[in-house]
Amino acid sequence: MYNEKVFEHYRNPRNVGEIEDADGIGVYMSDFCGDITKFWIKVAEGKIVEAKYKTQGCVASVACGSVLTELVRNKTVEEALRITKEDVLDALGGLPEPKIHCSMLALDSLSDAVLDYLLKKGVSAPDTLVEKRERIKPLLVEMEKKGYVLI
Ligand code: FES
Repeated sequence: MYNEKVFEHYRNPRNVGEIEDADGIGVYMSDFCGDITKFWIKVAEGKIVEAKYKTQGCVASVACGSVLTELVRNKTVEEALRITKEDVLDALGGLPEPKIHCSMLALDSLSDAVLDYLLKKGVSAPDTLVEKRERIKPLLVEMEKKGYVLI
């Protein structure tokens, strides 16, 4: 059901792991399936110079996170927030319809890392990002309290 490019990113995911001195860390859980992805970004002179991710998710979530770490490199944080699910899908040569939401999981976790960066810098952030974080964070805290290991 997946094309060869998706499988290639799944078998050899780019930039998996953590950035120790990250400027922004974001995490998101899919409303659709409960899969979780976490993103770390390093920013220099307003540009994302490094991005890493980890996911507890499906084949497509691995591939989407992988390709997104490549798409976002050398983009400004504003440009990073303008990356769309269509950009991710195009970069992967498409995903089966039931897996389209996996691209949103990667994008939402990246956006949360950008939000984290903006808040740390004391820069105002788009309300939509703040609202998403406020909606998801309590769920993640609750899961951790119940003993789930998240990433
Ligand atoms: S099935 Fe939900 S992220 Fe892939």
